[in-house]
This record gives sequence, C-alpha cells and structure tokens, in this order.
Amino acid sequence: MHLLITGGAGFIGSNFIHYMRQAHPEDTLINLDALTYAGNLANLADIPEDAHYHFVRGSILNHDLLVHLIREYRIDAIVNFAAESHVDRSISDPMVFIDSNIKGVATLLDVARTTGVRRFQQVSTDEVYGSMPAPQQATEETPLNPSSPYSAAKASADLLVLAAHRTYGQDVTITRCSNNYGPYQYPEKLIPLMIQHGLEGKTLPVYGTGENIRDWLYVSDHCWAIDLVLRKAAPGSIYNISGHNERTNLAIIHEIITQLHIDPQLIRHVADRPGHDWRYSLDASKLHHDLGWQPTVSFAEGMHRTIQWYQDHQDWWRDLNQQPVR
Ligand SMILES: NC(=O)c1ccc[n+]([C@@H]2O[C@H](COP(=O)([O-])OP(=O)(O)OC[C@H]3O[C@@H](n4cnc5c(N)ncnc54)[C@H](O)[C@@H]3O)[C@@H](O)[C@H]2O)c1
Repeated sequence: MHLLITGGAGFIGSNFIHYMRQAHPEDTLINLDALTYAGNLANLADIPEDAHYHFVRGSILNHDLLVHLIREYRIDAIVNFAAESHVDRSISDPMVFIDSNIKGVATLLDVARTTGVRRFQQVSTDEVYGSMPAPQQATEETPLNPSSPYSAAKASADLLVLAAHRTYGQDVTITRCSNNYGPYQYPEKLIPLMIQHGLEGKTLPVYGTGENIRDWLYVSDHCWAIDLVLRKAAPGSIYNISGHNERTNLAIIHEIITQLHIDPQLIRHVADRPGHDWRYSLDASKLHHDLGWQPTVSFAEGMHRTIQWYQDHQDWWRDLNQQPVR
C-alpha cells in the first residue's frame, strides 16, 4: 500500500511509522506534518528517506499540497493523526483546534473524495464520549458528549467522517482510543511530564484530587489496532481501542514515584482543569471480536519501558524544553 500518514512526526504518528516499517516494509509511507511544537523529526531520526519513506513538511489544511502528494505518490489510503492534541491548550487557545482538528479533516476528506483515495482512517479518541459514570463503558453506539474544545473538535471531525461515508459513499474508518503512553510523547502530557519532573527533582503537579480515572494503552498496541482496522475493517466502521487498564491520575504518579525511587512529598495538588472529565471508559470488545485485537503489553511492562526510555533519552526532552512554546 501507498499511505499518506499525517501528523507522523508527533507521538503516536512516529510510533506508527516505526511500527509500519517493521510490520509492512513493502509499503510506501509519505509522512505529512506541519511540525508544530509537538512535531519532532528527532522521533524519526533512525528512519532513512528511501523509496519506502518520505517526509514532507506541510499542513492538512493545504488542499493543493494534498492533491499533489496523493497524485505524485499514488496514495491508496490516508491515516490521519494530525491534530492539536492537548486539552489544556484547547482551553486557552481553542481556534487552532478548530482549524487543524475540524477544517483539516474536512480538507482531507474533500481531497480524498475528489482524487479517489480508497480509504480514510481517522484517529479519534475516547474523549468524544465525555465523562462516563462508573461502571458504564462507552460502546461505539454511545452518543458523543464531549466536554473540552479539544474533544468537541475531535467529535466534530468524527461526524464529518461519517457524513462523508453516508453522503458520498466514501470508504472511511474511525478508531477511538484511550490514553496512550510510550516513547516520544511530548512532556506536557501526564506520564512524560511526571517522569521528567521526577528525573529533575521538581514537584509533581496533579489536578484537583487526582482521583480522575483514565484508561491507558501502550502506544505500540494502538498502532497494531490502527493497522488492523486500516486493512480489514468494513467501510464506515468505528472501533473503540482500550487497554482495559483504568487508573486514577494519582495511581499513575505513584507508579512513577516508585519506579524512580523519588519522594511522594513532591506531589502538589493544583487547581483543577475547567470542565475536567471525571472518568473515561471504553468497551473495546467489538475490535477483539471482529479483528482479534487485544493489548499485548501489560501496564507494568509498558511503564517500565516508558520510564527507561525517558531516562535513556534525556537529550530528546531537554532539547524540547529549550524550544519556545507557542
Ligand atoms: N495521545 C493520546 O493519548 C491519544 C489518544 C487517542 C487519540 N489520540 C489522537 O491521536 C492523534 C495523534 O496524537 P498524538 O498524541 O500523537 O499528538 P501529538 O500532538 O504528539 O502529534 C500531533 C502531530 O500532528 C502535527 N500537526 C498538527 N496540526 C497539523 C496540521 N494542521 N497539519 C499537519 N500536521 C499537523 C503536529 O506537528 C504533530 O506532529 C491525534 O489525532 C489525537 O487526537 C491521541
């Protein structure tokens, strides 16, 4: 397959490119990324430009560039990771989320339709379902109920993707995954932020009581699920992807404290995020039933690998910290 991977210099996108080079070395991967603060070519430094991999700097909002790339590289399918991804930034600066996460997806869909791209895979999130009271879990049929500008923009994109299928008969798929962790995650998100602060001896800021619950999945398991859906799922289908591993934020921080042998007194409770969802929880049985997917990396193993990676790659995150944040 010839794939256009958008946002491939970010956290999950770069892990996906590494995954695909191993799993499908015969594929051609074109990585289109605007290189915002979250995009980092150092994530792909070990991947040479060759007949099977090419990087292009540009935005998914650039219609003409998309048409050019799809024709030039005879693209069969688009996998869209490109997005603004941080909830806190969406609260302080929502408009860029509207541009990349909604208009960007509308542009990709329009170009995919007019150029005849066979499949469009949208990488979405469990946050589109909003907060789930325990013990409820969101299935793919659960109504969308997003809380933040980030999740509202992602939910809007999901609706545009489904509309493209119903209106134009476009071959689309949507995956909605829970929180990812692993190498190359920008240290503004919970796990890499806490690891970095722990390694630097800084305090560990936790929103509110820290009892909010998230479900965590090691990033390579997400990549495998996307690959399965991309190749095997029926047109128009939606799949939840979950680690079935729900933890409070405080439990995550205590895991990092234990593994780094640091003082729990470093925890500082700070004012809660506005509109902070209490709990995300997914039922991912459809993906298991239809395509045989299940998580392969346990939480203990995934956390061990992740903490080790941030310990071994201090240059990677220290370089990031020196760059101005938008
Ligand atoms: N991180 C998670 O836990 C998680 C969970 C579920 C779903 N997702 C979704 O997965 C996708 C990737 O998330 P991530 O954590 O890797 O994000 P990230 O912020 O690390 O990476 C996003 C990438 O998109 C690029 N980008 C942003 N706007 C762009 C534009 N207009 N044109 C081209 N490139 C652009 C950035 O430069 C960056 O490389 C997002 O769509 C996100 O909503 C993330």
